[in-house]
Amino acid sequence: MQNKLIKIAKDTNLFLKKFIKKQKKTDLIEPMNYGLFSGGKKIRSKILIDTGYLFKVNYKTLIAIGAAIECIHAYSLIHDDLPCMDNDSTRRGKPSTHIKFGQSTAVLAGNSLLTMAFEILSDSSLKITEKIKINLIKKLSECSGHLGVAGGQFLDLSFENKKISKSKIIDMEIKKTGKLFSFCCMAPLIVKKKNIKEIKIFERIGSDVGLLFQITDDLIDHDVSSKMAGKKTKKDEKQGKATLISLLGYKNTIKYKDKIKSKIIRVLKKYGKNSKNIIETLNYILSRNK
Ligand code: IPE
Ligand code: IPE
Ligand code: MG
Ligand code: MG
Ligand code: MG
Repeated sequence: MQNKLIKIAKDTNLFLKKFIKKQKKTDLIEPMNYGLFSGGKKIRSKILIDTGYLFKVNYKTLIAIGAAIECIHAYSLIHDDLPCMDNDSTRRGKPSTHIKFGQSTAVLAGNSLLTMAFEILSDSSLKITEKIKINLIKKLSECSGHLGVAGGQFLDLSFENKKISKSKIIDMEIKKTGKLFSFCCMAPLIVKKKNIKEIKIFERIGSDVGLLFQITDDLIDHDVSSKMAGKKTKKDEKQGKATLISLLGYKNTIKYKDKIKSKIIRVLKKYGKNSKNIIETLNYILSRNK
């Protein structure tokens, strides 16, 4: 698994470096590169490639789509760390982008990465039909805006220091993190022009995987040292974040995680042994400590 992640990170970074190199130089490129290339597991690209494997999508196409997703992810982290959001000064074991370059630059580098995702998906070097590109762009926009990452981040901040119900916490976590994973799991089916019913199944698998990813992130905040995680931990409680751990307690959160995992595996059973890579990634997501 670790070797696969390293290869995917290498191929994705190479794609992004080439893509940025083709563009005119500006002063925002340095902070954008900092947000993109300063580490990061590339787990979203991995699950995209796993699902792509199941539906026999070309690897190069997947790397390009994954690069677009990683741009959105990198932007969301730059903004997540800003003083007006989580106010975190460390990310991936290094100073956060706004610490290194200043707040206004971090905001604008984040904006530029967000829009770069759509430049990548609409680029002529991506060898899929225009119709498919538009479908991908539409879905990725939905997953990133007020119905997805941005909307979830808004809820995350507005829930601080309030008693929030389980269903509202889950809705917030699915939006801020799950939606991008749901795009990863449905993009290969969009490329292969699968029917809406099957796309919806994978959209749902993705949002459940993303929910598990966020719950594990919340457990990491609770359990793991800042040094190991590469970011400041034991913060969610101090900041009054609404998490399943704060509402249900530690043990019940683990129970809930197991329940969602079984549900995902049940759905994937139908796809036989070709879904083993997705399950491998799922297990990694659940057991990681960074
Ligand atoms: C962290 O995401 C933010 C969450 C959505 C929980 P990752 O843990 O994937 O961040 P990197 O890219 O590997 O640093
Ligand atoms: C971030 O969630 C989710 C995003 C969409 C960026 P967190 O705020 O828990 O992520 P970390 O712990 O700072 O990485
Ligand atoms: Mg946050
Ligand atoms: Mg944060
Ligand atoms: Mg966190």
